[in-house]
Amino acid sequence: MAGVGNGGEPKPATAARIYDYHLGGIHNFPADRAAGDAVARLFPLVPALARTNRAFLRRAVRHLAESGVRQFLDIGSGIPTAGNVHEVARSVVPDARVVYVDIDPVAVSESLEILDGDERAGAVRADVRDPQAILGHPQVRRLLDFGEPVGLLLVAVLHFVPDDEAAQAAVRPLREALVPGSYVVVSHAASDGVRDDDSGHVAVAKDVYQRSTATPFHLRSRPQVERFFEGLEIVEPGVVWLPEWHPAPDDPTDFAQDPSRSAGLAGVARVR
Ligand SMILES: C[S@@+](CC[C@H](N)C(=O)[O-])C[C@H]1O[C@@H](n2cnc3c(N)ncnc32)[C@H](O)[C@@H]1O
Repeated sequence: MAGVGNGGEPKPATAARIYDYHLGGIHNFPADRAAGDAVARLFPLVPALARTNRAFLRRAVRHLAESGVRQFLDIGSGIPTAGNVHEVARSVVPDARVVYVDIDPVAVSESLEILDGDERAGAVRADVRDPQAILGHPQVRRLLDFGEPVGLLLVAVLHFVPDDEAAQAAVRPLREALVPGSYVVVSHAASDGVRDDDSGHVAVAKDVYQRSTATPFHLRSRPQVERFFEGLEIVEPGVVWLPEWHPAPDDPTDFAQDPSRSAGLAGVARVR
């Protein structure tokens, strides 16, 4: 299964399956592994970045569930792996409802497989750049009640929307659909953490995604990431490096010495 580039040309690898490969998952194909290896040759830290991001996702979902959120919209959800959103949320709120959304058909079909028979969770194929299609999707409407707080998860997905205005335009209607008490969770590959000696590698890694997948990626600065939370009440400690957001004892220790090396910024904000 391949993605399609903007020019309609087939792209053999996908971001979801490269990420799955870096997490040690089994839902990836030779093209994904080749692209994943090409990126990891330049950035041996990439599998650690994936683990660190995934750990942030788990902590954020637990935090939201403990704050009373009972339903989650996870956009750019990826291929199911240990510690999925519905599992983490239900460890706190047993009847939590979750909709997974991803552009990659394999991520969606794998999600549907593990959710088979689950009346309170579903998976939908959609593009974050088309928020109205997500908000109006019959599965989303069936499972989520937008009259009640929703946890909107945009974790490691917005860097696949390179254009800044397009990314803001995607998030705005999603944010506006949320009632007070809802939360927005974002993690994002960051340009702030890139050292001068790594910048050439970033360019080459971007090129690998550009050539092999339909979803090229784009790093953003801290102010650009903070803009996704405009008008919301940011949860302390604000937008910080991934390992710094409410660290937990079972976190990966990869970036304990230097959190900025995680190259990812993360934040959570509450709708008021
Ligand atoms: C790095 S993975 C993150 C998975 C999960 N959110 C996590 O943090 O563990 C990024 C996911 O975003 C998805 N994605 C990329 N561009 C997208 C788009 N325009 N709309 C929806 N999903 C997208 C990819 O298919 C992939 O599954």
